[in-house]
Amino acid sequence: MTESQVDTAAPQVEEPEKPFKVEIVVRRYSSETDQEPYWQSFTVDMYSTNRILDALHQIKWEQDSTLAFRRSCAHGVCGSDAMRINGRNRLACKTLIKDLDITKPVYVEAIKGLPLERDLIVDMDPFFESFKEVQPFLQASDKPEKERIQSIEDRAVFDDTTKCILCAACTTSCPVFWTDGQYFGPAAIVNAHRFIFDSRDEAASTRLDILNDQEGVWRCRTTFNCTEACPRGIEVTKAIAEVKQAVLRGRP
Ligand code: SF4
Ligand code: FES
Repeated sequence: MTESQVDTAAPQVEEPEKPFKVEIVVRRYSSETDQEPYWQSFTVDMYSTNRILDALHQIKWEQDSTLAFRRSCAHGVCGSDAMRINGRNRLACKTLIKDLDITKPVYVEAIKGLPLERDLIVDMDPFFESFKEVQPFLQASDKPEKERIQSIEDRAVFDDTTKCILCAACTTSCPVFWTDGQYFGPAAIVNAHRFIFDSRDEAASTRLDILNDQEGVWRCRTTFNCTEACPRGIEVTKAIAEVKQAVLRGRP
């Protein structure tokens, strides 16, 4: 290679993205000071790869430390930051700014159908009560020396419902749950499904009896809101339909 052939052009350096303004409108409420919830607007500096959780942190850490919301892992694993973002249940930590229309304000409020405690925090006790009622744990009388062996095919039957992170996005997007807080709700049924169809478990008929209750699977109106809301991509409505069929059969 001659000297004239050497490429002397400087390598292209990409301009770093500049932050831009995003208006976040949060539905605020404190039982100590407010009669009713109200909307409050904040403007934050964001990058396209920031998430709504980053916006909430910026508000809390730099503008208003009284803003209340739950979060833990910040990576879509713990399920603690489900909220309504532009009218749709999502995890704040998995909702990227670049996926929202930021030419308009972004509206953030607590999930619906559970008692509002403060700002974006609801009382999750009724949700976990329903979850506990379906006995979401393995029940087996045998005592193997090592692990209980299960075939790949048997494991695959309930693979989808093992992915639940109990975020409540499905249950609190369900119109039946909004109007009747007694309904077990999609998340409890998903977690029942996970054990009803587990070949190692022996308590399927107990769970099917529980879900044959008037507040059980038959309250589902197959609106698919739950499937659309699930941040784990679980086919929630399909799982509910499988449990309905198992109730009719009287076995998984
Ligand atoms: S089924 Fe999906 S939306 Fe419902 S609680 Fe589990 S992870 Fe959340
Ligand atoms: S903070 Fe854990 S799922 Fe979002």
